[in-house]
Amino acid sequence: MTKDENTSLAQTVRGMRDLVGVDVSVYGEIINTLMRVAYSHGYSQIETPILEFTSLFVRGLGEDTDVVGKEMFSFLDRAGQSVTLRPEGTASAVRALITNKLTQTLPQKFFYYGPMFRYDRPQKGRYRQFFQFGIEDFGESGPLSDVDVIALAHEGLSKLGVQGELFINSIGDKSSREIYKSHLVDYFSKYKNDLSEDSQRRLLTNPLRILDSKELSDIAIIEGSPSLFDFLSKDAAAFFDKVQDGLNVLSIPYSIDRTLVRGLDYYDHTTFEFKANIDSQPLAVVGGGRYNGLVEEMGGPSIPAVGLAFGVDRVMLAYDRARIPAKTVISVLFVTEKEEVVALKLANALRDKFNVIIPSDGGIAKRLKQSNTAGATCAIIIGEDEVRLSAVKCKLLKAVGEYSDGDEFSVEQANLEEFLMRVTVPKDKIL
Ligand code: HAM
Repeated sequence: MTKDENTSLAQTVRGMRDLVGVDVSVYGEIINTLMRVAYSHGYSQIETPILEFTSLFVRGLGEDTDVVGKEMFSFLDRAGQSVTLRPEGTASAVRALITNKLTQTLPQKFFYYGPMFRYDRPQKGRYRQFFQFGIEDFGESGPLSDVDVIALAHEGLSKLGVQGELFINSIGDKSSREIYKSHLVDYFSKYKNDLSEDSQRRLLTNPLRILDSKELSDIAIIEGSPSLFDFLSKDAAAFFDKVQDGLNVLSIPYSIDRTLVRGLDYYDHTTFEFKANIDSQPLAVVGGGRYNGLVEEMGGPSIPAVGLAFGVDRVMLAYDRARIPAKTVISVLFVTEKEEVVALKLANALRDKFNVIIPSDGGIAKRLKQSNTAGATCAIIIGEDEVRLSAVKCKLLKAVGEYSDGDEFSVEQANLEEFLMRVTVPKDKIL
């Protein structure tokens, strides 16, 4: 018996969940808001496949990262090729830039959103299928583009009413990092036997990754390690100064966090994260940075780039649900089949202003109950008499303003929309 034969058919895979009810509205509102912000900064949408060759991520994110080493959903397809459910969007965006020969017409500014997959330990704000909204700006090398990308995140979060605290760092250019690495190796070698197994291996393969370790045995040693800041080249330091100048000009508050190396290998120069308090725990809701070497690393020309991704699930947790604008629900009920066509026409005519449902199963009492469950404010009842008089019966299902739950009115069909606006929207809410 395979493992999956033991599970119930109604169970989701661990770390994956359905979005239903208000969660879907919140998700939609967040994506719509971020899309508007991205368009206003000159980005346009790109859609890449959810499944890519495993080598894309191994090469793109770095063999020694936790994502590649421990968290990828990889499997052999029927042709025996190793494929992976995308754990993030940057590597795919770079591949798409090269695949579609977009490297000749720069800059290229993309946004994307959708599910990503990491075999992480599920907990609040950490899922195995999660959603990102990402942007990638290819072909712009100046610090102003880093500032613009960070400003986009700042604007997105504030439009969503989410308080995010910005942390920034510079991990320098390649030459600064090479010098720094040799100092790191000297330092960590002194504590080699006290380091975790992963960190001992990384001492040989990628010492910078040790700084990202969450192992308790490593943390105390990391605290005393030399800072990359002290090894920044003149150019890298000047670049970082200009990023800070730009943030100051835009009055975007930030703190410098020298340990912010990020969990993926492709970064250089600027790295940043926005953290929000979720259940009194600071969690990264946006992460990003510059990655000037990646396009070339993936087989394209040398093209500078900078980008970020919002963790949409975490933004959802920090989002105030009361912000979702409610559209009034109206229920249209026909008494017998003979009134069906009139009901259908009336319902369609009202859909510009209202969300309209036409419950059709069972008697009027049952359908009134269904209308209540669906949150309808008013039921419009159409019988033989109403059709003859070109009128409808309106029964309020909720008290609104001066009107009470259960109040009934006879209204001419021609005046219905105006009447519903009046009775379903309290007077103080009419603009
Ligand atoms: P990342 O920091 O790995 O960066 O992910 C970005 C955001 O995705 C995180 O800050 C977090 O909010 C969310 N996230 C990551 N893993 C999970 C998870 N298991 N469950 C829920 N949310 C999660 C990237 O992915 C880069 N591609 C960002 C980037 C774009 N850098 C340059 N361009």
